[in-house]
Amino acid sequence: MMIKPELAKKMIEQVRNEFAASLQYLATAIYFEQESMDNTATFFYAQAAEENEHGMKLLRYVVETGGTAELLAIPAPVAKIKSAEDAFQTSLKWELEVTGQINALMDMAKQQNDYLAENFLKWFVDEQLEEVTTMEKFLNLVRKMGDKNIYMLEQLIKGA
Ligand code: FEO
Repeated sequence: MMIKPELAKKMIEQVRNEFAASLQYLATAIYFEQESMDNTATFFYAQAAEENEHGMKLLRYVVETGGTAELLAIPAPVAKIKSAEDAFQTSLKWELEVTGQINALMDMAKQQNDYLAENFLKWFVDEQLEEVTTMEKFLNLVRKMGDKNIYMLEQLIKGA
């Protein structure tokens, strides 16, 4: 079954967005590692790996459904992380943006009556709920802790 060119193009843009998110999370992980917050760094390294998987999943879908898959340049991480609160605030913002992008893909799949794409994208819709919720939770906790108690985060984020 052939994917429609317009949807393939949008999905390839999303591949770029997911890889860009991966770089953003890598930059965030490095920030925490340099702050000697190794558990928080591990959390963000894992997020970076997940975003990479998301990008690959979308890319594989486009290729397998016969779409054109010309890869786009990946922008460098935009934000210089200034604090733990900044890191989680920025991460939440990215996740909300990605949620909007996934919803737009879903809208297009529905308009095209592309049931296969709808079914495929459903996984991403669910994944976004989980990622937004996680980032909201940690942003909330970080705000409650404040700078003075920020090392408490190391215990709370372990295994998250
Ligand atoms: Fe792949 Fe966190 O969005």
